[in-house]
Amino acid sequence: MTHFVRRALVTGAASGIGAATVELLARRGIHVLMADRDPTVVEKAGKVSGAVGYVMDLGREDEIVALADYAKQKFGGCDILINNAGIAPKKDGRGYKVTEIDSALWNQVMMINLTAPFLLCRELLPAMQVNKWGRVINVSSRAGRTQVGGVSSFYSASKAGLIGFTRQLANEYVADGVTVNCVAPGPVQTPLATQSSEAQKQRVLDGIPMKRPATAMEIAVAIDFLSTPEAAYVTGTCMDVNGGGYMA
Ligand SMILES: NC(=O)c1ccc[n+]([C@@H]2O[C@H](COP(=O)([O-])OP(=O)(O)OC[C@H]3O[C@@H](n4cnc5c(N)ncnc54)[C@H](O)[C@@H]3O)[C@@H](O)[C@H]2O)c1
Repeated sequence: MTHFVRRALVTGAASGIGAATVELLARRGIHVLMADRDPTVVEKAGKVSGAVGYVMDLGREDEIVALADYAKQKFGGCDILINNAGIAPKKDGRGYKVTEIDSALWNQVMMINLTAPFLLCRELLPAMQVNKWGRVINVSSRAGRTQVGGVSSFYSASKAGLIGFTRQLANEYVADGVTVNCVAPGPVQTPLATQSSEAQKQRVLDGIPMKRPATAMEIAVAIDFLSTPEAAYVTGTCMDVNGGGYMA
């Protein structure tokens, strides 16, 4: 009998939380399709056993559908979908005030943070349902759980939307062996965080009882846990990983 290999798709896999998650999945023998707009994802995938790099833009629906088709037809399937990629545009190192946001910027954030996860779920969940096994983990944020000083409203709205989407989807697939969950990180030391000014970073840390940001690996362990067979009874939840910065 051939050994059954599970396959995962991780978006935003070239950097930060996505790259750390790939490392943990690969350690468990999972083959990972690493999607990112950053072309270095191909070279990075070359260093991970069983991984394939795929360059694409989550801002484009046609490229998202092509990625899902590649996962299904060329990569051998997708048992674990990790919607990790996200953007948090800053204005001079701080969050945008609502009056400074034009519709194009609002739509871009919604597209990458919320619509892309929806499209990948739409394309990839049917096969999980047939297989009677699947895991979806959506990376939200503490800013989707509660107010966080200086964060742009478009970011909070997209991340709160992702939590609502997750709950509803978990309910739709609850009888199919497919779990759908969120992880909501507090501040994490990744390139995304470097876009904030020192003052903004301090303002965010002031709201964290542990008084430090997380490492990418401290978030990846939560994502990895939710993707395991052993986490089968956890669905529709949002796991807060935030140094005590929000306790629901
Ligand atoms: N870093 C934090 O403080 C923090 C806090 C809470 C939540 N998060 C969330 O964690 C997730 C991962 O963030 P991170 O901190 O690892 O960020 P990161 O910037 O290190 O990595 C994000 C990756 O997504 C990719 N990406 C961005 N836009 C893309 C697009 N249009 N198409 C394809 N790939 C794209 C980037 O190239 C990058 O490799 C995001 O959803 C973010 O909102 C981060």
